[in-house]
Amino acid sequence: MATVRLQQLTRKFPDGSVALAGLTLDIKHGEFLVLVGPSGCGKTTALRLIAGLDAPTSGRIVVGEEDVTDLPPGSRDVAMVFQNYALYPHFTVAENIAFPLKMRRVPAGEQQRQVREVAETLGIGELLARKPAQLSGGQRQRVALARALVRQPAVFLFDEPLSNLDAQVRASTRAELVRLHRQLGATMIFVTHDQVEAMSMAQRMAVLNKGRLEQCAAPLEVYRTPATRFTAQFVGSPSINTFDGTIEGKGSRQLFVGAVQVPVTAPPGSGTLAVRPEHLHIVPPGDGTFPVRVALVEPLGAECIVHALLGDNTEVRVRVPGLPTVATGDTVHLRIDHEAALVFDAEGRLEGRGRRP
Ligand SMILES: Nc1ncnc2c1ncn2[C@@H]1O[C@H](COP(=O)(O)OP(=O)(O)O)[C@@H](O)[C@H]1O
Ligand SMILES: [Mg+2]
Repeated sequence: MATVRLQQLTRKFPDGSVALAGLTLDIKHGEFLVLVGPSGCGKTTALRLIAGLDAPTSGRIVVGEEDVTDLPPGSRDVAMVFQNYALYPHFTVAENIAFPLKMRRVPAGEQQRQVREVAETLGIGELLARKPAQLSGGQRQRVALARALVRQPAVFLFDEPLSNLDAQVRASTRAELVRLHRQLGATMIFVTHDQVEAMSMAQRMAVLNKGRLEQCAAPLEVYRTPATRFTAQFVGSPSINTFDGTIEGKGSRQLFVGAVQVPVTAPPGSGTLAVRPEHLHIVPPGDGTFPVRVALVEPLGAECIVHALLGDNTEVRVRVPGLPTVATGDTVHLRIDHEAALVFDAEGRLEGRGRRP
């Protein structure tokens, strides 16, 4: 069973920087787990530790039943695909793919058979005689993937493998990788800084921030119920609207943000109200609505994004289905979908939600 358990993994560098600070994560057998977070949050470090290319300052790594923390990379049943492909430039495609088999002294005939088979699976069967310089970015990425596949490892590690590809190739390779995962049933840990990529590919996504785990859950759960303010802001585009305010009242509490008042389930104190752009609605003025000035309208075809300003010039983003019905300079009124609103405490932890007045 290729489960991967990270236990309190910490990696400090001699210069004092801390890339990972006690990361604990259980990855299931056959799972497609996406590790996502902004640049510098420790994603590559985590993969390098799992692959054995780097050693943790403290903590353990367990693959299946075996503690691999002190094993060299070659003794771990793990293959890593890098962002920059890391192909051997003087080798042909076939030689690049065959490399791990050669290292294991697999007989030449068998090497060729396996190389051809995996190349066919990935649609690069015609490219076997070429050198990497004669390939497009997408093709090089496939060769790197093929080289990982022939090893038939228990665990695949992908470090932003799609980020050098153009948007269209990236989208098709994404879908292909998900298909491949289903076909192989292997455990895969996929790293990206792109939350859209994470949302679209992950069975579960682990959100990392400054070397710490913010949340690990299914993408829609992360979207709907972000455990922290960081996660709420990191996931979703355009990003969630946040308003700082105070929660007051004894029995039935309200969050006050300027002139806006929202009934909430959270305890009294300072709090942040977070509302996704699709949970703000342009409505006629009335009870519970508040005015904003339209600063910019982005028509995207099926929907538009309206950027508007509150009285104090705070920007709010509103997702409006269909074609634009408002224009820059208009004053419009907004209503908050109370029950979809989230409330975070002063430390940024999810503390409650809005409720119907
Ligand atoms: N060899 C190193 N020496 C010092 N700091 C490092 C080293 N490698 C990485 N870091 C730091 O550790 C943090 C995490 O890096 P990394 O894991 O590469 O992030 P990510 O892959 O999420 O962008 C960064 O702040 C980075 O500057
Ligand atoms: Mg990285």
